[in-house]
Amino acid sequence: MQSPYSSVYKRKKPGVRSSSVANATKLDLTPNTFDFFLPCPRGLEGALADEVKALAAHSPSLKVGTPAPGGLPVRGTLTDAMLLNLHCRLPSRVLLLGGRCSYADAEDIYHLARDLAWEKWFDVTQALRVDVTAERSPLESIKFAALRVKDGICDRFRALTGERPDVDTAHPDVRIHLHLRELDALLYLDTSGEPLFKRGWRSEHGAAPLKEHLAAGLLRLAGWTPGDVLFDPLCGSGTLVIEAAQIAANRAPGLDRTFGFEVLRGFDANAWSALREQARQAVRPVAPGQFFAADIDPANVRMTLDNARRAGVEGAIAAEPGDVVAALPPVDAVALPAGRAAWLISNPPYDERIAPEGEAADDFAPQLARALKQRFAGWHVALLAADLHWDRALRLKPRRRIVVFNGPIECRLMLFDMVAGSARGQ
Ligand SMILES: C[S@@+](CC[C@H](N)C(=O)[O-])C[C@H]1O[C@@H](n2cnc3c(N)ncnc32)[C@H](O)[C@@H]1O
Repeated sequence: MQSPYSSVYKRKKPGVRSSSVANATKLDLTPNTFDFFLPCPRGLEGALADEVKALAAHSPSLKVGTPAPGGLPVRGTLTDAMLLNLHCRLPSRVLLLGGRCSYADAEDIYHLARDLAWEKWFDVTQALRVDVTAERSPLESIKFAALRVKDGICDRFRALTGERPDVDTAHPDVRIHLHLRELDALLYLDTSGEPLFKRGWRSEHGAAPLKEHLAAGLLRLAGWTPGDVLFDPLCGSGTLVIEAAQIAANRAPGLDRTFGFEVLRGFDANAWSALREQARQAVRPVAPGQFFAADIDPANVRMTLDNARRAGVEGAIAAEPGDVVAALPPVDAVALPAGRAAWLISNPPYDERIAPEGEAADDFAPQLARALKQRFAGWHVALLAADLHWDRALRLKPRRRIVVFNGPIECRLMLFDMVAGSARGQ
């Protein structure tokens, strides 16, 4: 694929407009190497860095930066971008940095958009969508800034070809992402297309499903490893057990979907099909007896099994209806071979909208805690709670409380080690 330039516009005095790439400082890049940013749910940045480092061990060109709030900067080739999209579970996107400028108003951002060589990535017949995010931007309207990005790109194409690309917010061919910080604006080309948490297996979801990248992140934050047993007794659509079973099966999360980079100019279809084939060959079978799910609603149990089938892990997951307060451990944690642990990881219903059900619904937290204490000795437990002090309602002392965001909702992932009669530390 041809390389467009990446550019960093020099910081200018407010009111002085940078008007062309002549003002740009070229990044010192190895040819064909680009800067990327991988956004992820807040709280997962360190776990994402670990995930990408493991991938970088197989790709010397992939360099992992220092985690930033809400994501991870990395540098690599376009092949690395394919690898990141195919194999990473925690990011929501792989964004390629096109250019950056300091800005005083939306016109500076228009000029940044107009001066970047978009024609090296896509052509005028491809429909666009521009998204915008911001942190402490002084602009009154960030939507207007996004509009000016669209104008800048369209004006560039009109000057070059006499025509302008269409905008299609529902089914764009190409997505551009503007991120506004307090002092500078960054323009990215989205190599992912649909967000990466859309793995392609979910056709139905229950109430308040976890997004797949958050579920995978919770497994990592908790400390579950691919040989360990996992039980989610409040499984909903099955996101946690399906992510875990795919990890145990070494099944790349992007194996069953398409990506934005596939429609970009110069896309190397041969390299991509080789990477996919390699990933397909690496999938290994997972024996039953490791992944267990339950839910009080039998429709959710059916949904979990349907989703598991579409995710290529049917047979690995046993699911049945049941009330968590009466749940029995599906394996004897104490009898597991050395090095294998048993985990109960779940996100229990958290408010009036997604309220607990069953006979103990009015007294849910203490009844759940009682069930854990009485029957889950030897289990590691990780519960995601939107109530930051839910451990008080449970009357269990967590070994750790980890800050993580479920979308905009600040949560705690609470880790407990169950010993006979109580949680350790009580
Ligand atoms: C927040 S949702 C879990 C969502 C799930 N993690 C997903 O990704 O789809 C909580 C689930 O708990 C289930 N539930 C509520 N009360 C229950 C109970 N007493 N026993 C078992 N499941 C229960 C609900 O049916 C719902 O599916």
